[in-house]
Amino acid sequence: DTADDVRVEERTFPTLDALNAALAAEPPVVPGGTRAVPGEGPVGAAIAFVGEQPGHQEDRQRRPFVGPAGRLLDRALAEAGIARERVYVTNAVKQFKFVQRGKRRIHQRPTAGEVSHSRWWLDRELGLVHPRVVVALGATAGLALAGRRVTVTRERGPLALANRRGYLTVHPSYLLRLPDEAAKHAAYEAFVADLNAIREMAG
Ligand code: URA
Repeated sequence: DTADDVRVEERTFPTLDALNAALAAEPPVVPGGTRAVPGEGPVGAAIAFVGEQPGHQEDRQRRPFVGPAGRLLDRALAEAGIARERVYVTNAVKQFKFVQRGKRRIHQRPTAGEVSHSRWWLDRELGLVHPRVVVALGATAGLALAGRRVTVTRERGPLALANRRGYLTVHPSYLLRLPDEAAKHAAYEAFVADLNAIREMAG
């Protein structure tokens, strides 16, 4: 296991495509995990968004943020004047972790250990994309980027990272889960306000 870690540390990738090709060949790191879903977007994007992990739809289509949370993100990005095709979108953990319940695959939150294992890929990926601002969507992405537990309610906003400019906000799934329509609307507007701040930070 230690020998494997050393070997993996020595691998270097000149391009994002090379990195993602290697990622695609990785065995699952999470129990029940399937294939890796790579990040998506142009190298040199000014903004990179980091989610938690791919969900059911993302795993099927092998693209990040294409399910319900992705549609909400798309709508909020458009409202904030950010073109999705010009930003980079990825996840802290690259594989869908789930438990099977009948025909449904139910999302399971990755452990801190799984997040830490996946940081190796995320660091290299962001090194190659080289965004001006990296956005943590939720606490799992915050943990992956900051290397410590973050609390969205307390630390929402610009987030100090070792070698990058960061920003912490809510995960779009959180907005989908809010039961009350008025609360959902207010939380959505606050999310769009964060995206406007992020656009200005990156501009
Ligand atoms: N939620 C995430 O965190 N990432 C995705 O790609 C989709 C849903």
